[in-house]
Amino acid sequence: MRKKIVAGNWKMNTTVAEGVELAKAVAAKSVEVPAGVDLVVAPPFTHLVCVADALKGSKVALSAQNCADHEKGAYTGEVAVNMLTSVGCEYTILGHSERRQYYGETDEKLVVKTKLALEAGIKVILCVGENLDEREAGKHFEVVKNQTEAVLYTLTAEQLKSIVVAYEPVWAIGTGKTATAAQAEEIHACIRKVIAAKFGEEAAEEVTILYGGSCKPSNAKELFAEKDIDGGLIGGAALKADDFIQIALSF
Ligand code: 13P
Repeated sequence: MRKKIVAGNWKMNTTVAEGVELAKAVAAKSVEVPAGVDLVVAPPFTHLVCVADALKGSKVALSAQNCADHEKGAYTGEVAVNMLTSVGCEYTILGHSERRQYYGETDEKLVVKTKLALEAGIKVILCVGENLDEREAGKHFEVVKNQTEAVLYTLTAEQLKSIVVAYEPVWAIGTGKTATAAQAEEIHACIRKVIAAKFGEEAAEEVTILYGGSCKPSNAKELFAEKDIDGGLIGGAALKADDFIQIALSF
């Protein structure tokens, strides 16, 4: 049985004090969430140490939002994977569309980052998703297939076990426009097929695939009811502990 996960991507929001307060509220309410559902929060780098402390003893795991494509050295402003493990990160998000769009994140860089993270023992939440132009041109399957293959096909079957995929249609992020459950499901099923083509059906069945893009308490149930949707990567709604936990209770 593959894991169900609800992960909160805080993006560039909250001060450290606000982040700690949010993490404490999520940790306190996480006792309501059934054992079969994993919770993850991804605060900004500056918050990781304090948030790790706030989450101690709870079931909520810590994630980064990105990592460097080098192990260490003269890379001003970057954060290496061993720094993430040293503060207790279990996951890192990679390839978020905001990083692809605003910071020149390429598939080639993502391959390097993914391997560094996995070698350091950090699980990767790999984001894929088409933008509005690509969807309107009918290229969404192709775009998602290419992004998925570009990174996952460079991995071993063993490494695949530490990968979570997040399908985030760019046009649904922060816009209030959610993909319908049917739109999301057909892409999730496609991602699983792409994984199966390289690693086999059995391995593909074990990969957790999250949906992200205006996911909130009011639409999570419908999305999570789909066969290939194993949870969510939540932006805006993850900044409110009640909403975040409500989403995690939507399976
Ligand atoms: P929103 O939930 O704010 O649309 O953001 C989704 C997202 O980008 C999570 O990574």
